[in-house]
Formats: sequence, C-alpha cells, structure tokens
Amino acid sequence: MVGHKVNYYVFTDQPANVPQIPLQEGRQVVVLEVRNYKRWQDISMHRMETISNFSQQRFLREVHYLVCLDVDMKFSDHVGVEILAPLFGTLHPGFYRGDRQSFTYERRPLSQAYIPRDEGDFYYAGGFFGGSVPEVYRLTMACHQAMMADQANGIEAVWHDESHLNRYLLYHKPSKVLSPEYLWDEHMLRRPPLLRKLRYVAVPKNHAEIRNR
Ligand code: GAL
Ligand code: MN
Repeated sequence: MVGHKVNYYVFTDQPANVPQIPLQEGRQVVVLEVRNYKRWQDISMHRMETISNFSQQRFLREVHYLVCLDVDMKFSDHVGVEILAPLFGTLHPGFYRGDRQSFTYERRPLSQAYIPRDEGDFYYAGGFFGGSVPEVYRLTMACHQAMMADQANGIEAVWHDESHLNRYLLYHKPSKVLSPEYLWDEHMLRRPPLLRKLRYVAVPKNHAEIRNR
C-alpha cells in the first residue's frame, strides 16, 4: 500500500520479541499484547475477540480499514488498496476450484457455524479478510459471540474461527472476494501457472509440531 498511511498492529504474547523495523514515513508498527492460550485452536479463535475489542478501543478512531492477516506469512508481491472494500474475504487456496460439496464448512447443526449442504458460495480463508472498521467490528463481534455460544454448548467448529467466518460471510455477503493470490501456500500447493502472482505466502512450518502438541 505504497503511498498510503499504514499501521501494522501486531498481536503477540511476547512484545519484547517483536523486532524494530525501520519504516517509511506514514507507517508504524503498533505492538499489542494479548494473552496466550495453551491450544492453537484457542489462540486462533480468540483473534476475533481481540480484533473486536481493539476496534472499539482504538481502531475505530485510528484507521478507516482493517486488513486481518495471519502472521505466519510473508508479503512476496504487490498488495495494495485494490483489496479494500466495505467487507472483503479471500478464497482459500485449497478450495478455489472445488465445488460446494468439497468445502470444509461446519456441518453439525448444533454449532453456530453450521452451513447446510445446499448453501454456500465460496470457502473463505481465515487468514485474510477485512473491510471498514465498523464492518470488521460487526463481523468479529458476531464470530466471537458465536464461538462463545458453541463453547457453552460443548462444541467447537471444525475449522474454528475460519468456520465462523465462512458462516458470517455466507449471510453477510462481502462486497469484494479476493483471489487466492492473496493467501497461498507453495509447499502445500506448489505454484499453478494460472496464478501469475503470489502476493502473500505461508512461511513453511511444521504443522504436526505446532498443531498437535
Ligand atoms: C487447510 C489449512 C487449515 C484450514 C483447512 C480448511 O489446508 O491448513 O488451516 O484452513 O485447510 O479445510
Ligand atoms: Mn497461518
């Protein structure tokens, strides 16, 4: 987003470990401390709560748009204001060619993230969504509340916050849908010729080690 003002809000439980990076004018890193959770699923899901809380506390005053991104990623090509819209989502790289039947939506009616077999437009990625601050506030608040309800009912959606994001975007249609160029994983999916640019890519990590502890 060259030429625009950008705040990079970094959520971490280890603020001291965030490196100091020199930035151009109009850019700043804002380190926001969040609590840790034992399970990666809880760390992932509580991002919805964190984003909604900070939206109310400061983002609404400080910025026009929020772009909510996984942190285990790297910018590797142009990402600019073309992504901005009142509410936007990104096609998950594993499912952009698949049909509705293949989408890994939550299928148990007991969950607040439930999507019936005959519904659903796209399978969105949990790691890249956003919009105007009021819209993202509404989305993250709704997802957090849905996850709290699930917890009270003893159920956890199959893909956690991503399942709830998918449900929300089904009934609150985003005004823009981004290509999986904006969230790619070369190790899982190689580099298909049809994608000319890979703009934001997963940094290799050992899923088994990180996820199954
Ligand atoms: C995987 C990804 C998960 C989740 C899942 C959905 O490829 O690693 O985080 O998005 O797809 O089926
Ligand atoms: Mn990730």
